[in-house]
Amino acid sequence: MFNIENLTVRINDKYLIKGMTFTVPKGQITAIIGESGSGKSTTISALLGILPAQATLEGTIFFNGRDLIDLSRDERLALRKKHFFTIFQDATNSFSPTLKMKQQLYSLTALRLGHKNEAFLAKIKVILKDLNLSEDVLESYPFELSGGMLQRCMLACALYNEPDVLMADEPTSALDMLHQQEFIKRLKKLHTQLGTTVLLITHDLGVAASIADFILVMKNGEIVERGQVAEIFEQPKHLYTKRLVANHF
Ligand SMILES: Nc1ncnc2c1ncn2[C@@H]1O[C@H](COP(=O)(O)OP(=O)(O)O)[C@@H](O)[C@H]1O
Ligand SMILES: [Mg+2]
Repeated sequence: MFNIENLTVRINDKYLIKGMTFTVPKGQITAIIGESGSGKSTTISALLGILPAQATLEGTIFFNGRDLIDLSRDERLALRKKHFFTIFQDATNSFSPTLKMKQQLYSLTALRLGHKNEAFLAKIKVILKDLNLSEDVLESYPFELSGGMLQRCMLACALYNEPDVLMADEPTSALDMLHQQEFIKRLKKLHTQLGTTVLLITHDLGVAASIADFILVMKNGEIVERGQVAEIFEQPKHLYTKRLVANHF
């Protein structure tokens, strides 16, 4: 699905990511783990085409055989809306405080897909119910909902959109343990139901281990290790990964 070669991002003389080469295989869950500041979010921004204006990008990002770097801003935006959906760390900041959830969920789903309001309401209500959210959510403002509920609203949008690729950047970091596990379970279910390709960013090895097929370990803007979950756990090679695994137990 994604084929990334030698991806490098610089701002002035600072390298945010250095020559990353990796793939995000179709229908699988790929996790990128690494400590804060290792370049995980920058990687997502590069894939989405939302790097800060002053950033320099090198390398290739093939998506379904097309190099995204060759596309214009408008083409990338269109592609993003059509194929990707992204869940960010803090759902509270992902929603506008002054609009009811109904309008915001509409903008993130039906508006993109060209669905009418009636069709939107019918479909979103079924999805919300399935996620254990009451219909009242639609008439609520974000501040009236908990972080876990807002993050589930993001999942609801993902379920509505059925994106080819779901990118989630530390989606559970703002949640307590119980809600983290619940969120991961629901994410896994979405993946199983829709066969969605998932790129999950986390600094939590436990989260990655519980859901991913393949793990990439980042440090200082580079991939220092990669492998199936079992390989990473049983035979970590890089010192940094060994430490991550040791700290996990
Ligand atoms: N807009 C920016 N300008 C300069 N440096 C940045 C910018 N955004 C991120 N960085 C730096 O790039 C590095 C990687 O950041 P980031 O991708 O956010 O890491 P992570 O998501 O793994 O915590 C960090 O050292 C961070 O300080
Ligand atoms: Mg980050």
